[in-house]
Amino acid sequence: MERKPLIAGNWKMHLSIEEAVQLASSLADCCRGGLDDREVMVAPPYTSVAAVVKALKGSPIQVAGQNVCWEKEGAFTGEISPVMLKEAGTTMVILGHSERRHIFGEGDELINRRLQGALAFDLTPILCVGETLDEREQGATFDVLERQVTKGLQNVAAIDAAEVVIAYEPVWAIGTGKTASNDQAQEAHKFIRGVLAALYEKTLADKIRILYGGSVKPDNIDSLMAEPDIDGALVGGAALKFESFDRIIHYKI
Ligand code: PGA
Repeated sequence: MERKPLIAGNWKMHLSIEEAVQLASSLADCCRGGLDDREVMVAPPYTSVAAVVKALKGSPIQVAGQNVCWEKEGAFTGEISPVMLKEAGTTMVILGHSERRHIFGEGDELINRRLQGALAFDLTPILCVGETLDEREQGATFDVLERQVTKGLQNVAAIDAAEVVIAYEPVWAIGTGKTASNDQAQEAHKFIRGVLAALYEKTLADKIRILYGGSVKPDNIDSLMAEPDIDGALVGGAALKFESFDRIIHYKI
């Protein structure tokens, strides 16, 4: 049941190319000694991807896109293709982030299409799921998580599902400074693993990494990572500063 932890930084729509390269270079320096027991990834805005890949060359840190289209090329204004992301040097892609769902209206079917596109071109998808505050208060958290995981993975064969990473990001915890308690996060992660086991089988569910996201900071990462079903973190605000992300990468349990 080996799951290699993944610490992922989501830079969202932040940092100039120069700032992105500076941050990536500092991260590369700090990780050059090797990170055998964990993986690290950063997801810059598209305009900085190639420069960040270059700055990270020779370091174990991977680069991800923040979204992806399912087509290789074509008339899809505003989109980025999996082939283009791969050409720029990314290996992963964030999909279904709550900002995509709630600000830009992306639904489960569209996200599923994107996820299938990512898999078809060998990009590791990080499928984000999570309930809003309203949904939590109405007792709908598990229904929402079950729906988002099931629909997000629709028509995905077990062999491909094994490559997928899930990120549980309660919407009320993103950018608010309000982290889910360790118990709330562990409960949701365990539930998601159960959904994966029902969709596929337990041995496969036990291999899929489930990250926690939502106000992860240097002072809560250690205790979150100590939970049995938390296999890493998707970090927004605290990934934009070298000191805080460096501490999160080097979490201790
Ligand atoms: P946050 O963002 O760490 O700033 O809450 C997390 C995310 O949106 O992935």
